[in-house]
Amino acid sequence: MEREGETSVVVAVVTEPRFTQRYRDYLEKQKLLDRQHRVQKLRDGMVALPVLAETLPERQLQELRNRVAPGSSCRLTQLLDPLPSKKARVCSPAQSLCLEVRRWVEDRGVTWCAELEADLPRSWQRHGDLMLLSEDCFQAEQWQSLEPELWETVASALGVQRLAKRGRVLPDGTRTPSVTLLLGDHGWVEHMDNGIRYTFDVTQCMFSFGNITEKLRVASLSCAGEVLVDLYAGIGYFTLPFLVHAGAAFVHACEWNPHAAAALRNNLEINGVADRCQIHFGDNRKLQLSNAADRVNLGLIPSSEEGWPVACQVLRKDVGGVLHIHQNVESFSGRKPQPLGSSDTRKEHGPHPQKIITDKQGNGTTGNVRGDMLPSASKPEWHSWAESTATQIASLLHRVHGGVWRTQILRVHPVKSYAPHVDHMVLDLECRPVL
Ligand SMILES: C[S@@+](CC[C@H](N)C(=O)[O-])C[C@H]1O[C@@H](n2cnc3c(N)ncnc32)[C@H](O)[C@@H]1O
Repeated sequence: MEREGETSVVVAVVTEPRFTQRYRDYLEKQKLLDRQHRVQKLRDGMVALPVLAETLPERQLQELRNRVAPGSSCRLTQLLDPLPSKKARVCSPAQSLCLEVRRWVEDRGVTWCAELEADLPRSWQRHGDLMLLSEDCFQAEQWQSLEPELWETVASALGVQRLAKRGRVLPDGTRTPSVTLLLGDHGWVEHMDNGIRYTFDVTQCMFSFGNITEKLRVASLSCAGEVLVDLYAGIGYFTLPFLVHAGAAFVHACEWNPHAAAALRNNLEINGVADRCQIHFGDNRKLQLSNAADRVNLGLIPSSEEGWPVACQVLRKDVGGVLHIHQNVESFSGRKPQPLGSSDTRKEHGPHPQKIITDKQGNGTTGNVRGDMLPSASKPEWHSWAESTATQIASLLHRVHGGVWRTQILRVHPVKSYAPHVDHMVLDLECRPVL
């Protein structure tokens, strides 16, 4: 989410300083030049011109190299915390949006009022040249007589070519965002994230910027040789880092939203890993796969509980594996985060107390096999959720595969704050049959 004053990353075209003006003219003509950020000199003497897209097609880079400025070298980079341009420093994006929309509205004889001003967007998500506005804007009736030209003014003020507006994520299980395209002829966008390309249609699929830390963590795991099942694959937010960076040998990716499955198929292709993934289109609870996975990802919030039985079913019966279980966990107001409990407990739980063992490490932290530690502060509710989940999974594994199962909490970690007193958590749970 891009908000006033927040840091960001922009894509920029890099060339030699003597070609700056020609590059600038070309990018301006193509409506690609990002006027909110300054052209920057890089340490190696090259210059970087910020652009409004997430990436430029090779065809355009070649045009710059060969036709616009023959002899120039041209490549793409990402600028972290790009410097604001003079224009942006004088006026924040929200202020310049307000000024431009107001001027345009008054030119059409409509009286500007506080209601209209309060109804302008305050936050938005940039997807390259498409700006996705929050749902709480442009709700006043007066706007209707000004559409569709209004959207061109808004887009131009925000420095983009396409515009869409968000509604609520539909509670239909597919996490489909009800997004309306206001300007432009399609909702396909592209993101480059940790070296992985993701394309998808913003009007049909969701993209969680807030899960970035978890995607990076997944990418840093070492899963060489492992078979993984991603029960809620979406467009590949976790499937791709597991394949591209963590070195998973094969991923079974489950997805029931046809638009997300189509985007996933495309993303596997463009990242060169399609041969190591099978998409299981449909309801994962009916998945015809068992006793196959070393690792299962259950990336669904508010809860992935409906996927627990199938997660146990697909886990290898002989050696077990690791589950990554996502869940929104509520904490009660007025209670401060506390250091993790330091009890050294090895608990046995019913209904088959002799068969189900959950095991915590007893050193005041919960370290995983790679030595990651829990944050020093943790809420008691996170802990109880993790323990109760570990117990339930052990019981499910016994029911599905038979025998005695031991579940061990490797790590329980917040991904993001979802709402006041609600945290999106991930539990890494090691599940092993006791021989
Ligand atoms: C939250 S989204 C994508 C999650 C992604 N792992 C992330 O955190 O960014 C969850 C995805 O699971 C899919 N999904 C939900 N329930 C499902 C089910 N029972 N079977 C298959 N796919 C399901 C939805 O269509 C959606 O694309």
